[in-house]
Amino acid sequence: PAVGVSVPHESASLHVTGAALYTDDLVHRTKDVLHAHPVQVMKAHGTITALRTGPALAVPGVVRVLTGADVPGVNDAGMKHDEPLFPDEVMFHGHAVAWVLAETLEAARLGAAAVEVELDEKPSLVTLREAMAANSFHGARPVMLAGDVDAGFADSAHVFTGEFQFADQEHFYLETHAALAHVDENGQMFVQSSTQHPSETQEIVAHVLGLHSHEVTVQCLRMGGGFGGKEMQPHGFAAVAALGALLTGRPVRVRLNRTQDLTMSGKRHGFHATWKIGFDTEGRIQALDATLTADGGWSLDLSEPVVARALCHIDNTYWIPHARVAGRIARTNKVSNTAFRGFGGPQGMLVIEDIMGRCAPLLGLDPMELRARNFYRQGQTTPYGQPVAHPERIATVWQQVQDDAAIADRKREIAAFNAAHPHTKRGLALTGIKFGISFNLTAFNQAGALVLVYKDGSVLINHGGTEMGQGLHTKMLQVAATTLGIPLHKVRLAPTRTDKVPNTSATAASAGADLNGAAVKNACEQIRERLLQVAGTRLGANASDVRLVEGVARVLGGDEELAWDDLVRTAYFQRVQLSAAGFYRTEGLHWDAKAFQGSPFKYFSYGAAAAEVEVDGFTGAYRIRRVDIVHDVGDSLSPMIDIGQVEGGFVQGAGWLTLEDLRWDSGDGPDRGRLLTQAASTYKLPSFSEMPEEFNVRLLENATEEGAVYGSKAVGEPPLMLAFSVREALRQAAAAFGPSGVSVELASPATPEAVYWAIEAARQGA
Ligand code: MTE
Ligand code: MOS
Repeated sequence: PAVGVSVPHESASLHVTGAALYTDDLVHRTKDVLHAHPVQVMKAHGTITALRTGPALAVPGVVRVLTGADVPGVNDAGMKHDEPLFPDEVMFHGHAVAWVLAETLEAARLGAAAVEVELDEKPSLVTLREAMAANSFHGARPVMLAGDVDAGFADSAHVFTGEFQFADQEHFYLETHAALAHVDENGQMFVQSSTQHPSETQEIVAHVLGLHSHEVTVQCLRMGGGFGGKEMQPHGFAAVAALGALLTGRPVRVRLNRTQDLTMSGKRHGFHATWKIGFDTEGRIQALDATLTADGGWSLDLSEPVVARALCHIDNTYWIPHARVAGRIARTNKVSNTAFRGFGGPQGMLVIEDIMGRCAPLLGLDPMELRARNFYRQGQTTPYGQPVAHPERIATVWQQVQDDAAIADRKREIAAFNAAHPHTKRGLALTGIKFGISFNLTAFNQAGALVLVYKDGSVLINHGGTEMGQGLHTKMLQVAATTLGIPLHKVRLAPTRTDKVPNTSATAASAGADLNGAAVKNACEQIRERLLQVAGTRLGANASDVRLVEGVARVLGGDEELAWDDLVRTAYFQRVQLSAAGFYRTEGLHWDAKAFQGSPFKYFSYGAAAAEVEVDGFTGAYRIRRVDIVHDVGDSLSPMIDIGQVEGGFVQGAGWLTLEDLRWDSGDGPDRGRLLTQAASTYKLPSFSEMPEEFNVRLLENATEEGAVYGSKAVGEPPLMLAFSVREALRQAAAAFGPSGVSVELASPATPEAVYWAIEAARQGA
């Protein structure tokens, strides 16, 4: 069967030959396109007192300048209605206040430069600390309560407190934000958009234009990466293109260049955390009291669900009987921070892993031992009240990584190496993950599909998920082929469009394959059942005795067979319906956002990683010598795709934690609020030179997840958090420069500079 077989990504050859088309490639197939260029105001905060578009219209090639006055519907691009598409108030450095449409991109750029904006400048809050000091918060302020925190601390033999602020992260998808809109021959607003959430893009475009959803179609062919950055942020760009198309009657293209994308679009939230933790004499966590503050940026966007997910993941793999964890969202004059792989989960988990790394030496325990002692056991529940199913899998992956990576031997080798090398130290750390799968908001856990079987036996599937490189479409082809019992090559996939499957959820929360896979399977099962009836009649058997495998229908225990193509043709002449709409909703979920209690997740994903690093004591420079990972994806739908997701997620996590360093000008000069790292030259992403020298990834075997599509589990986000192992290995290597048992604080990102300062502190025995 096609499910579970290692097949290449369905567009792999197109990707590597450059033939795969992305949204902006479609411009070359479109006539009379107008190019849109933003008018960005380069001040962190202020009220617009004058906006003069006249000078732009005098630039040759400029056709129109779009401003708030042009909006026929609602001037807002966000689901929270706090995101004016054409703002009167500049809320961050680089905020676009108008868009210029021209015959060429260069003319649009010159036109945008000619627009005159006068600003009544206002004080700004650029850093998280500034916002916290000014009490600048917005949105919900959830509190997660479990047990009796005061009693938990009273029972604790050891209590520690700390503070931790860690960085944001740029998505740096290869394809920047892009949209191409035109009014089609049917009067329909048709928008091609690089969006993870076509239905919401459609909704926002309709709002802005004052249209109904059935007058707007959004298509997403594929994305050159989204990573959460295209879950909510594409809507405004799509709306600008659509508005331009509506007003000029010509196709309009929006495509950000890299610096525009970096300065205009939201990032992973940086967080600040204060914490107090109590352990018993054995090092078992008794109580946790923490406050997490996310840097939300100027508008709410997805900050509330991001903070909720951070709270829901602060336990990671550890049982915390008594907890009080508060979350809040700082409002700053920066881009609106948004979803990014893990959606707040990584931030919550980083807090507890940092605590474990810092407290292990204070408790006199090996960090591995401290972690293992606190793993969830059967019958325990999370602080938000969900029973942890299959907690034994944490111990299983933990043990398997120890075996794969020969941890015991290498620990001895590293101790010997460190004893012999005063200026170079190695560290080896093991960390685990537990990640909840499903959207916290129960309603989002639904999906639809439309499967069409044509008379010649070929099959076309439509589903509501989007392809961003993660291999969702490949998996959907495998699911359809397996359910229908036909070879993979018989099935083709149509681009994601809102006029095929309505009211879809974002392809996010790693749930794309779970939700859409189950919907595709449901549609295929309906068709298969009808075809089995037809086959039974033709073969003179009960439908229940007929099997469809590899394109042939056979009667159990008989020789009679009927080829798929013949079966389909027969069914057509018998007027049997050859198409079906599929639907799926995840059962058994409930979530009370106010009480912050419930069982929001269908299941948990588990994994463990061991990382070894070597650190130079003079500079803090380091390399990753070896990484071993065992990760749980249930019974993999597509093993090669899943291994790729684990590798990519891990490296992206290592980038967040060690290299990627967004810098904002927070001084009082004229550039206050400006993003200083505006290009790949100043924003360091992981590349070949940062890959682990040895990188062993394998999937947990015999890991069937009951009730999920073909026993599989989600894979997209969880592996990112396996990179905690790298950060903890760096901490241990830094500690090796100091006296034994020293507790090391490490900044995040742990750049060589930060590692150097951690080594210095360790040397002082601090
Ligand atoms: N992999 C690639 N290559 N590109 C991406 O943009 N996004 C990640 C993950 N893997 C991403 C990726 C994120 S943030 C999510 S939520 C999932 O893929 C979404 O897809 P899925 O639900 O189909 O796993
Ligand atoms: Mo992923 S952050 O849920 O798009």
